[in-house]
Amino acid sequence: MADSERLILVSNRGPVTFGRDRQGREIATRGGGGLVTALLGLVERSSALWISAANSDVDAEKAGRAFPLEGMGVDTRGRFVAIDEATYDAYYNVIANPLLWFIQHYLWDLSNAPNITRTELDAFEDGYQRANELFADAVIDELRPDEDALVMVHDYHLYTASPRIRAERPRAFLHFFCHIPWTQPDAWRVLPPSMREPLLLGVLANDIVGFHTPRYARNFLLCCDDLLDLPVDYSRQTVRYEGRDIWVRAYPISIHTAAFERMARSDEVSSFEGPILRRRRAHLVVRVDRTDLSKNTLRGFEAFDVFLDRYPEFREEITFFALLQPSRQDVPEYVEYLDRIRELASRINTKHGNTDWMPIDLNIENNLPRAVAAYKHFDVLMVNSIFDGMNLVAKEAPLVNERGGVMILSENTGAFDELGAFCLTVNPFDVEAQAEALHSALTMPHEERIARNDEIRRIVRENDVTKWLEAQLHDISARRAGAPAERVGARG
Ligand code: G6P
Repeated sequence: MADSERLILVSNRGPVTFGRDRQGREIATRGGGGLVTALLGLVERSSALWISAANSDVDAEKAGRAFPLEGMGVDTRGRFVAIDEATYDAYYNVIANPLLWFIQHYLWDLSNAPNITRTELDAFEDGYQRANELFADAVIDELRPDEDALVMVHDYHLYTASPRIRAERPRAFLHFFCHIPWTQPDAWRVLPPSMREPLLLGVLANDIVGFHTPRYARNFLLCCDDLLDLPVDYSRQTVRYEGRDIWVRAYPISIHTAAFERMARSDEVSSFEGPILRRRRAHLVVRVDRTDLSKNTLRGFEAFDVFLDRYPEFREEITFFALLQPSRQDVPEYVEYLDRIRELASRINTKHGNTDWMPIDLNIENNLPRAVAAYKHFDVLMVNSIFDGMNLVAKEAPLVNERGGVMILSENTGAFDELGAFCLTVNPFDVEAQAEALHSALTMPHEERIARNDEIRRIVRENDVTKWLEAQLHDISARRAGAPAERVGARG
């Protein structure tokens, strides 16, 4: 990226959403989830304009023009895209979540759902496609026709924004990054061609398409081959479409480690440590997630139940602290999942607990400083996702942990590729293995715990978000300079 060149980030969820307190003063709340976490790491090192959807009335008042995002990154500006309620609902609550999200995490129970009815077909045209046009128009409005900007479009909400940007601003370099898994071609056959083809072709309007892992990149190439019948070069990882070679690459995302470690030392985080330490028993198991079906909270609790049955010596000696951010509560599947989480936690607490001891300390709230306080003190971190694009909790929590905590990690997370060797690996469906992993983690010799945690920290620090960005910038320069796509793997 040339120094003078502008970087524009485009994502549905933005870094902040604005509201007002009782006195009418404006208050900003940080956006949740892995995408915001990672892009906040990115804007810590690059000046950028971040375009995202307005999520409140105050956001909507600011929509349509750029404004400074004080205290966020080196020189970050924001711009909100106002989308009317019905369009947003169809785009976000019908198409993006659950339809695409479930396809991309293999969550559909296909004999029961989904049904593609007139509602979904209309939601695709009038919601998803329309919202994508509005995002594209905001980018177009920000760019002069002859400007060589770098536009980074993010995630599954925005698969069809790029063709419009390319048509209007052909000099912009379009880079797309998918923060969630990309599934195999047959998973996409849940959608009729009238939906899946524009989605795939929309992604191919970009110059480079990035995923977290080589497996997701390969699945994308397979989709281009199998579902679109386009020429694919698997060794160079390119797809030919409309006379262009689109590069398909893997760049494992991460966090800004120095900024995260600084935050972990902040007074705000410390203020949450006291209560956690006062309440902790001899052992503390922690999980921090959105209340998303892909996170596998229920099987994690089931495993804890089995563990308590099998190892009664841990009773009253252990607490499972779960800090779960409510997520997507306009989508019925998510509402039901959260109800089931509450019911299961309460059933396990009734079964094993007593007046003095509550085995599962369930907290449904969005509270990053509290989450980080828990990260510092876990003995065991549970990350047992069914499928998960990367999972940044798996990077954040061990980085700041102060007790040589052990991580139980699902083999179906993107983070597993980098960190799996130093974790206790579990298959997310295998409740039995998760119960045993809890026991192994809790009885592991102290030196081994420390050694594993040290290795994870080393890897996370080495593969900071800067590396994620630099690997992409390297490919962007090469692609712009007209270099042929190298064989993937040849770069070492
Ligand atoms: C994942 C997705 C992001 C999304 C986040 C939170 O990390 O990849 O695109 O922003 O979840 O979900 P939400 O629906 O609240 O934005």
